[in-house]
Amino acid sequence: MIDLRSDTVTRPSAEMLAAMTSAPLGDDVYGEDPTVNALEERVAGLLGHEAGLFTVTGSLANILGVRSLVPPGGEVLCEASAHIARAELGAHAAVSGVTTRTWSAPSGQIDLEQIRALIAPDLGPYFVVTSAVSVENTHNFGGGSIQHGYDVLADELDARGIPLHLDGARLWNAGVASGRSVASFASRAAAASVCLSKGLGAPVGSVLVGSVELIREARVWRKRLGGGWRQAGVLAAAGLYAVEHNVERLAEDHANARAIAEVLADAAPGSVKPDQVETNIVVADLAATGRTVADVVAGARDAGVLVGGVGATQLRIVTHLDASAADCRQAAEVLARLIG
Ligand SMILES: Cc1ncc(COP(=O)(O)O)c(C=O)c1O
Repeated sequence: MIDLRSDTVTRPSAEMLAAMTSAPLGDDVYGEDPTVNALEERVAGLLGHEAGLFTVTGSLANILGVRSLVPPGGEVLCEASAHIARAELGAHAAVSGVTTRTWSAPSGQIDLEQIRALIAPDLGPYFVVTSAVSVENTHNFGGGSIQHGYDVLADELDARGIPLHLDGARLWNAGVASGRSVASFASRAAAASVCLSKGLGAPVGSVLVGSVELIREARVWRKRLGGGWRQAGVLAAAGLYAVEHNVERLAEDHANARAIAEVLADAAPGSVKPDQVETNIVVADLAATGRTVADVVAGARDAGVLVGGVGATQLRIVTHLDASAADCRQAAEVLARLIG
């Protein structure tokens, strides 16, 4: 099977497994796992922050990051299809008492005018206080898009004294595709999360970064929520390996995604705009093809290709380090036959 449902489906390589089995370990709840400490320090440094916290998932890193900026009863603004609003199962409300209000924009982009209209820092006793704005970069359901208005928004929020939260699950992709350092994005946010288990190929893990104070508090909440772990260095070693070896190669995934988009655009004109595929995610709209998402997903599976649906008419194809250029070409041909 060629599995292009997500970049989370990768398996650790032999070299990554070797790094995991030889990692020095300790009890991370005591702060004594040297490999976890090294990972947290390394990622915080790469992202231009003082401190980091290794978490089991991106969702937990986001829960801890958002709650560090938004008190119970406060709100975070985000785009309507942001992962924190659509795919964390209401965690920010259920766990932290945080509500969301959203703006909608093509490809999940920042829309400064809408954000300005939503911001309500202090409208009196009847209104929820806007405590933070969250941006997802790259934007998952937006088709792996890079946030182009990021710096302008960060400047505006600085001027208004409202903190920025960055869901940077795929910030590595944004950095490689834009030629910018990941720090140039992440250092603008008061709290930022990055995933190690998506494009970078580690089996588990994310890192939340922020100030020493913010991370100290997040560490308490991680434990409170049951996420304190012991000899987690065996997993952190995979993350360190991933950060050292698997970032620059994301350019290959981006080229493969663009190549798939070109084949699909030829087969079903208008379903995809290849020049809008900036990173490793292709979203193809089947509305004009006469085929349903369920049909195409099932037909592709029968032909040895796994892809997923997002939304009523949209197919999502995600490239990653366990799918070679030849795999991606083959998958594109299968999909082109189905939608063409
Ligand atoms: C943008 C984004 N943020 C956060 C997450 C959550 O990561 P996890 O699945 O590790 O909880 C995901 C997962 O797909 C994601 O795409």
